[in-house]
Amino acid sequence: MKYSKMKGFRDIFGEDIEYWQYVESKLKSLFTSYGFKEFRLPILEKTALFNRGIGDTTDIVEKEMFSFEDKDGEFVSLRPEGTASLLRAYIENGLINNGVKKFYYLGNMFRRERPQKGRFRQFTQIGVEVLESSSALLDAEIASLLYNSAKVLELENIVELEINSLGCKECRPDYNELLIAYFKNIKDELCGDCNRRLERNPLRILDCKNENCKKLIKDAPVMLDNLCCECSDHFSQVKKHLNEMNIPYKINPFMVRGLDYYIRTAFELVTTMLGSASAVGAGGRYDGLIKTLGGSKDTAGIGFAIGVDRLVEILQQSKKIPIRQTDYFIVCFENTLEHGLKIVKSLREKGFIVEYDYDQSSMKSQMKKSNKLDAKFSVIIGEDEVNSLEVTIKDMLSGYQKRVSISDLCAINRD
Ligand code: HAM
Repeated sequence: MKYSKMKGFRDIFGEDIEYWQYVESKLKSLFTSYGFKEFRLPILEKTALFNRGIGDTTDIVEKEMFSFEDKDGEFVSLRPEGTASLLRAYIENGLINNGVKKFYYLGNMFRRERPQKGRFRQFTQIGVEVLESSSALLDAEIASLLYNSAKVLELENIVELEINSLGCKECRPDYNELLIAYFKNIKDELCGDCNRRLERNPLRILDCKNENCKKLIKDAPVMLDNLCCECSDHFSQVKKHLNEMNIPYKINPFMVRGLDYYIRTAFELVTTMLGSASAVGAGGRYDGLIKTLGGSKDTAGIGFAIGVDRLVEILQQSKKIPIRQTDYFIVCFENTLEHGLKIVKSLREKGFIVEYDYDQSSMKSQMKKSNKLDAKFSVIIGEDEVNSLEVTIKDMLSGYQKRVSISDLCAINRD
């Protein structure tokens, strides 16, 4: 019996993993430099958290969650995103009301979508959330951090930051009425899903993937033309601060995002390198979500999540990253093993990547192994080398070799 992985799930290893680790470590240090602290969250949560947090009428909740009834009768889901979980944890751990909080998280998310380029059923997000400030300067800081996440990987030329405002609970209801009036007239041309959306949540129509609906959406009224004074002023401030920060952006009045919790600023980092899965990362402001999830106060919040799978994919298409190779392969034999192991230990403690032959095979076969591992140097420790407290060190690229004292070899530092 042979087992295979499930559709939309992947094994990640070999050279790919080098890119993953590179991206994750660059982003972790970037977020740390902005003052974010890591938050580790559970992968499984109660289904109700996502229904309430993300919204009943979103594709994620309607169609895409991996949900099941646990043995004790509880309905649970593999998390499809991190924001609802983080806010649940924030409320549950009593972190509200102690000033601005900045967290980042990294982990697997699960959505039962149709797998295609850049779209998987298990994928990884690295995200940030900032709580307890509704300042437009913060919106600009977070959108700029999303842009800078591509910049630290030297990918800024193949991504674009798009921003929009989705209004607030004051101006959105009037805008919804405009949308209903517009789409009611062309109801028969909309897909079945959009007909239901028209009844339950008309804004969701703007997020429809159906090609015919997309054409009809082009002439629909946009939120940006219908913002209240506060939202309009907030959006102007965000743009002004982005300009001050020297962050290039484009306004996309049709961006609505696939989750219901957003108000005011929404943004996406898009690329043309991933086919239809164009967003490498996305986010926005969600003041009010904490209250919706049971927090006692109307607390402000904003954040984004980057699809690490997608970022890795465009990085691999764009450039080669430095991949660390084995520094030393220590060739030793039964009677020189003790010396060999001391040298292995000493070089590893200095931070070098050091390997040796566990099978203690012949000299020829050990040199072959060194070659196969692409080691920079082989260090040969034969009996007469041990007697003179020396080793032979061979540069595997040039083939040049020389004798050096064991103490000199152990004194080498990584630059
Ligand atoms: P989202 O737009 O649903 O937002 O996802 C954020 C990013 O996750 C996307 O831009 C994409 O790069 C990646 N992503 C989503 N689905 C898939 C998939 N099936 N396969 C591969 N990558 C995927 C959120 O999840 C929000 N929680 C972001 C946020 C944080 N908003 C505020 N704070």
